Amino acid sequence: MPEHPLTIAVDGPSGSGKSSVSKAVARELGLGYLDTGAMYRALTWWVLDEGIDPTDQAKVADASRSLPLEIATDPTGPVTVTVNGTDITEAIRETWISSQVSAVATNLDVRAELRRRQRELIDQLRADRGGVVAEGRDITTVVAPDAEHRILVTASEEARLARRSTELHGTAGAEQIEATRDQISRRDRDDATVSAFFEPAEGVVGLDTSDLSFEQVVQAVLDLVRGEVAPQTPEQSDPSKEDR
Ligand code: DC
Repeated sequence: MPEHPLTIAVDGPSGSGKSSVSKAVARELGLGYLDTGAMYRALTWWVLDEGIDPTDQAKVADASRSLPLEIATDPTGPVTVTVNGTDITEAIRETWISSQVSAVATNLDVRAELRRRQRELIDQLRADRGGVVAEGRDITTVVAPDAEHRILVTASEEARLARRSTELHGTAGAEQIEATRDQISRRDRDDATVSAFFEPAEGVVGLDTSDLSFEQVVQAVLDLVRGEVAPQTPEQSDPSKEDR
């Protein structure tokens, strides 16, 4: 556990790679991992399961307050998500959720409630695990603006489309890219009406990953965190870590 509790806030658009990078960084540093997008997805699943119209702002806001959500925060295992005892880990990644989640995520009363829950989870992980890597769209700016580290992971639209297309369809051919566009470009456009995640806010470090491999991005984040978090005196320095 780090000497002082540590929050690493990571934001970025869809397909920027922030989820897998954040999870790997949490694993490497022994911290908790909070996928806030999964919380918006879980609420979307619950609303649809209850037969509520996702665009009915008042009903969806009510549902957010009564959502019986459990989300795993251990980065060494899958991010299991259960609502009212039903395991919806796989379901929330399906297209019918991805294509409707923005209607729920742009509801400002929903955001207030999920922000409250996210801050509670972050505080709990700081106390229990020494810290957390929390990722989403508004973590660096709204949920945890006081985080010890704030990073915005970006990538060109082309790179993000290719990554998500490969994830969803196993390939990034022209047809698959087109099928992915709604899940990346349209969704980001909608989500960007309530959060700013294309440009780093003041004090937030921007990391353009367009030309970096997954391993390189993880290393870049670790370098940022290690460089600033553990300024070492000569007595403490560990030569094995010098060129990390
Ligand atoms: O990162 P993701 O694709 O799993 O996120 C799902 C949706 O939730 C996405 O449309 C944006 C929204 N979201 C948000 O508005 N704020 C967050 N902190 C995290 C996700």
